[in-house]
Amino acid sequence: MSYSNITSGFDSGITTITINRPNKLNALNKDTIQELHDAFDEANEDIETKVIIITGSGEKAFVAGADISEFANFSINEGGKLAAQGQALLFDFIENLGTPVIAAVNGFALGGGLELAMSCHFRVASTNAKMGLPETSLGVIPGYGGTQRLPQLVGKGRAMELVMTAGMIDANTAKDYGLLNHVVEQDELIPLCKKIAGKIIRNSSVAISKAIKAINANYKDGKDGYKVEIKQFGKCFGTKDFVEGTTAFLEKRKADFPGK
Ligand code: COA
Repeated sequence: MSYSNITSGFDSGITTITINRPNKLNALNKDTIQELHDAFDEANEDIETKVIIITGSGEKAFVAGADISEFANFSINEGGKLAAQGQALLFDFIENLGTPVIAAVNGFALGGGLELAMSCHFRVASTNAKMGLPETSLGVIPGYGGTQRLPQLVGKGRAMELVMTAGMIDANTAKDYGLLNHVVEQDELIPLCKKIAGKIIRNSSVAISKAIKAINANYKDGKDGYKVEIKQFGKCFGTKDFVEGTTAFLEKRKADFPGK
């Protein structure tokens, strides 16, 4: 598929999706959200793709938010629709994807940009990253899941303060808060994400997709995560990856998983 606001490239089991609107600090307009959905869907369906990395082009921003110019004149209905469509198409879609998604945060991750990073399975950032949810400074609130995922990751008090002050935190503070797993210099960001991806790729992608479901269940209203875990655990026993993984262990060799 060809895209105009993003690029998508594949190498050694990893699909890297890059948001490519550097002049607008990679702000998420409607077309970019649709293209991101399509690219994530395509990568998830691709049997060779075991890990997806998402990043922003340029050295300044991951994503500086939803594109403010697109919604400045919206009505109540249009505002609600914007949030509902965005959540379904991109943010919830990524969170529930069976393929692991790593956010490589290479600069500003503000508003919808931080919400995008938070919907990924985990986050790595460069030292120049600045993160925050500035929506209340614009008279609006986070609408792409930020009020839910930020407290899940950093705790209620810190989330309240970040949203109320509309402030930004630097990469090291974000790591202390639990928002980031690792912080490295900018030129080491993609190499580190690829190194982590390499460790993930060695394992069963089928089992990993079931683990994502079970872990996510802990954060879903009305779901008993333990029950989801039991179901997904049981399902593993019917997979070729399980047969290969256990057989390889018993034969004292490296597993060669058939995968998704
Ligand atoms: N939506 C639309 N355009 C955006 C944008 C956004 N969220 N964030 C940045 N841009 C655009 C700017 O309008 C500017 O475009 P222009 O050159 O055509 O005028 C361009 O990106 C560069 O941004 P600029 O503000 O000049 O860069 P800066 O280094 O002075 O400031 C930020 C960087 C991130 C502090 C600043 O761009 C900003 O505050 N952005 C909005 C952040 C925000 O509120 N996001 C939440 C949205 S809900």
